[in-house]
Amino acid sequence: MGAGRANSPAFRSLPAPHKLRARYLLATAAVVAVALGLVHAAYYRARRDGIIKDTSARLSIMTEMARDSIVSLMLGGQNGQLGRFITGSMTRDLKAMRLISPGGKVICSTMASQNDFTVRGLPLERKVVRDGHGIPVGIYTPIYNDRPCQSCHGTDKETLAVLNIELLNRGPLQKIAALRKETLFSFGTAFVLVFAPLGLLYLRLVDGPVRGLRESAKKAAKGNFDATFRAERDDELGGICADLNQAFEEVRRMKAALEERHQEAISKMEKMASLGELAAAVAHEIKNPLAGISGAIQVFAEDIPVNDPRKEIMQEILNEIDRLDQSVRSLLAYARPPVLRPVKVDIVSVVERARGLLARQAEAQGVQIRMPAAGYEVIAEADPEQMQQVFFSIMQNSLGLMPSGGTMEVSVRRDGAVGGEDTVRVTLSDTGMGIPSEDMKNMFRPFFTTKHSGSGLGLAISKNIVEQHGGRIEAESRPGLGSIFHVIIPSRASTQKDG
Ligand SMILES: Nc1ncnc2c1ncn2[C@@H]1O[C@H](COP(=O)(O)OP(=O)(O)O)[C@@H](O)[C@H]1O
Ligand SMILES: [Mg+2]
Repeated sequence: MGAGRANSPAFRSLPAPHKLRARYLLATAAVVAVALGLVHAAYYRARRDGIIKDTSARLSIMTEMARDSIVSLMLGGQNGQLGRFITGSMTRDLKAMRLISPGGKVICSTMASQNDFTVRGLPLERKVVRDGHGIPVGIYTPIYNDRPCQSCHGTDKETLAVLNIELLNRGPLQKIAALRKETLFSFGTAFVLVFAPLGLLYLRLVDGPVRGLRESAKKAAKGNFDATFRAERDDELGGICADLNQAFEEVRRMKAALEERHQEAISKMEKMASLGELAAAVAHEIKNPLAGISGAIQVFAEDIPVNDPRKEIMQEILNEIDRLDQSVRSLLAYARPPVLRPVKVDIVSVVERARGLLARQAEAQGVQIRMPAAGYEVIAEADPEQMQQVFFSIMQNSLGLMPSGGTMEVSVRRDGAVGGEDTVRVTLSDTGMGIPSEDMKNMFRPFFTTKHSGSGLGLAISKNIVEQHGGRIEAESRPGLGSIFHVIIPSRASTQKDG
């Protein structure tokens, strides 16, 4: 049974023992990484822009200085020094410097081999050339035919030459690579410094205790409620452990109580079963001789003249035998309840039939029986014969308690769902004397009767029948005013309609 329960859906434990930990650690790592990543990316971009700006500034200064030198050489009439100046300008990160005529012909260059080359599409405006990284690697600067130059160059040319400087981007690239390395290292260090304490804190404060909790819960899922939770912590998890311990304690207590009740019920049932068998056997043994006696008495009675006083005694004996026979029948019905044959039936008409059987008696006693209006139906799945007997027994008891008139009221209605199932409730009230409180708990027991000639089986049999239908009987007493009986049975596929 234990294994069966452990496999049922409600008890199956989910195969995700590390999900919470993984989720928390992943989420924390992601949050830390994003936050630090944003800060480091901003830092990296700002520093890289700085490197590029520095390079641009250097290039501009170099260009200005070179152009000024060239112009002053020209103005000083030292045209011959131009080539020397250009070739002498070579520095470590300078790739090339050239002076180009507006037509595109290289006038002189740091690379002598390029002299007389033609540059196609030479820009006559200032233009900065950048590499794929946005680092400036070259510049074209025009040397204009300003007023001092015009004394030699005349006035018809606007641009005398274009100065072109090309730089190597090795320096800035190295700086950027170093910056990247530094940023990544800083990011890694910061990540470890922030994430590690958060992770460790989680593992210590939450993960460990949760795993302990889960171990015990797993045992419980297999039906072992002897497990206990370590509740020494004074935080929420400790509180949960303490609550679970208490809950387990309660479950253990209930389990023990249930087992005890179960044992009691079993032994009671065993006792009842053997008593029932005994009762049935005795009843059976009595039935046949009774029939024999009754027959014999009838034969005797035939021989006795009509006005003989013994005739009356004979009749009295026959009546008593009849009553005995009734009791034996009831006993048999109680000891061996017939099998239910439930059909869809209108409960109102079942009650109506039980009333019909008692109509003459009720009329004779001056008892009025009020029933639901004709045409009112409450359909339920029930055994009509058996339920008719239930209503008959209850009404018969009520009639017996109103020898000099009274009222019985019967109502039949669909009741609220109990445990997800619709029920039909039949309420039967009388204006008898009510039920003494000490009889309340006994009246449904077999052979309990307060009547001189009662069998004490009417309500016991009724209770059996109703319980076989999955329902129950309840009794209420209004001392001095009367009694109310409720018969409640599940309606299953029942429908109610007012017509
Ligand atoms: N409507 C009622 N009002 C008061 N007492 C009742 C009523 N119905 C039953 N009882 C009590 O319950 C006892 C058991 O009833 P029952 O099982 O029908 O057996 P019997 O009718 O043979 O006594 C009755 O003897 C009576 O004391
Ligand atoms: Mg009775």
